[in-house]
Amino acid sequence: MQARRERPDPALFVGSGKAEEIAALMKSTGAGVALFDVALSPAQQRNLERELDARVLDRTALILDIFGQRAKSREGKLQVELAQLDHLSTRLVRGWTHLERQRGGLGKTGGPGEKQIELDRRMITTRVKALRERLKVLHKQRRTQRRSRDRRHVFTVSLVGYTNAGKSTLFNALTRAQAYAADQLFATLDTTSRRCFVAPDVEVVLSDTVGFIRGLPHALVEAFKSTLEESVEADLLLHVVDAASPAREAQIAEVDRVLREIGADHVPQLLVFNKVDRLGRAAGVEHDPCGTLSRVFLSAVTGAGVDELREVIAGRARAARTDDGRDVAVDSEADPSIPADVSH
Ligand code: GTP
Repeated sequence: MQARRERPDPALFVGSGKAEEIAALMKSTGAGVALFDVALSPAQQRNLERELDARVLDRTALILDIFGQRAKSREGKLQVELAQLDHLSTRLVRGWTHLERQRGGLGKTGGPGEKQIELDRRMITTRVKALRERLKVLHKQRRTQRRSRDRRHVFTVSLVGYTNAGKSTLFNALTRAQAYAADQLFATLDTTSRRCFVAPDVEVVLSDTVGFIRGLPHALVEAFKSTLEESVEADLLLHVVDAASPAREAQIAEVDRVLREIGADHVPQLLVFNKVDRLGRAAGVEHDPCGTLSRVFLSAVTGAGVDELREVIAGRARAARTDDGRDVAVDSEADPSIPADVSH
């Protein structure tokens, strides 16, 4: 259901007529949850719940829920929980003020509702504190690992892209389906970082990152900053695009916007147009009129073009090696913090 208004209604976000319409639609379809594709204020959410007599979720809560289901690493899970509690706590605080007002403002003795909310708030505060501490430790560990990688001059590549562009599929295609793949997780890194050979003499660290979404609430960008830092500090960004999506140009722009916001717009970027199998277009590398490589077309599912992408990455890594005397190939014995490669 869509609505058009000059500006959001402060109490309900939508107009009262629209709210009635939504309530009627929910009743006729038996829907139990109303999902608003916007960020609602705590008051709007509460008023809507009362008005519709149903659970109301806003865009931020839904995104957090999806992130929560998909978070793989411990850090990712903690970040989601923290952001969820943050989202919840503002709602509880407002809820409490509201009860206070209802009691007529004398407020010397708290009713049972207030006690419960106070208790919830205290529990949330304690949990938030513990989560922040834990994340601080993980963040520090991550930095140490990154520094150790830097010292050892490992070329790092991060996959970024709009949600559903095919980052994870490409990540798997690059790390698994190759003869000389070092198919082993960095036990001490985020589980979405893997080292892999893109050529017999070139090993890189490849990281998958959170998918970007249109209108990703700023609070969530903040919440995931530490994961996103992985992209900021990469040597190369593979910007994966769903070439079959009619909205691909807008999606590219949105990803670039988030990259700017997290300060990753200075990192060299390679556009990777994925899903060419759905376009009936040949895989391969495309150069611009000056002869510089501009984009790679491939299919992470069929594997067409993935070898060409490996060659491009290897080329970039070798160029970095000659630029600053890096030794791109990794000697896994050299650093005890990175597990030895067992696959070959
Ligand atoms: P988020 O985790 O949401 O950021 O998504 P992602 O970018 O990691 O995308 P993912 O790899 O999960 O792929 C999304 C969907 O696209 C899945 O259904 C994949 O099977 C499909 N997909 C990925 N690559 C290709 C491709 O080359 N061709 C086709 N036809 N489908 C693909």
